[in-house]
Amino acid sequence: MTYRVALLLPAVLALGGALILHQPASAGAESPKITASAHLYDTYCAQCHGVQRNGKGVNTIGLSVQPRDHSDTVGMASLPRDQMIRAIKEGGAAVNKSALMPAWSSVLTDQQIEDMADYLQHVCKCGQPT
Ligand code: HEC
Repeated sequence: MTYRVALLLPAVLALGGALILHQPASAGAESPKITASAHLYDTYCAQCHGVQRNGKGVNTIGLSVQPRDHSDTVGMASLPRDQMIRAIKEGGAAVNKSALMPAWSSVLTDQQIEDMADYLQHVCKCGQPT
């Protein structure tokens, strides 16, 4: 599976780049942190979680566990922020979820991961879970 991801990544990045040009959704009056996180998401997460953030990325065919739909307001509201951060940092297995969700601590800084959690709460429009 890792091999397949490695093969697909360049194609996905090229595709992602083309799509960003046609996607005004993340433009506009959003804060620089949101814009920066959206860009990181397009680069690292969209191949699985989808350009539309709905869990339907181009690399999900054949994944035995489907990626989380980050646009799902109800589903995301039940995901505590600390679990979200741990899943992003250490991967799905660290929160008893699928290891198909990779660990990002060697790619993203702690600050970028904090900002990504804010961004995900922005995407799901579900605010901060308590
Ligand atoms: C190789 C595919 C893949 C990539 C790339 C990927 N994810 Fe995931 N992600 C998954 C899968 C599969 C799950 C579902 C795991 C489960 O429910 O068992 C998931 C779940 C999650 C969850 C929910 C964890 C939970 O406790 O329910 C979050 C948050 C998340 N991903 C964030 C990200 C972020 C942020 C990125 C980019 C930095 C990213 N993912 C990149 C596959 C991926």
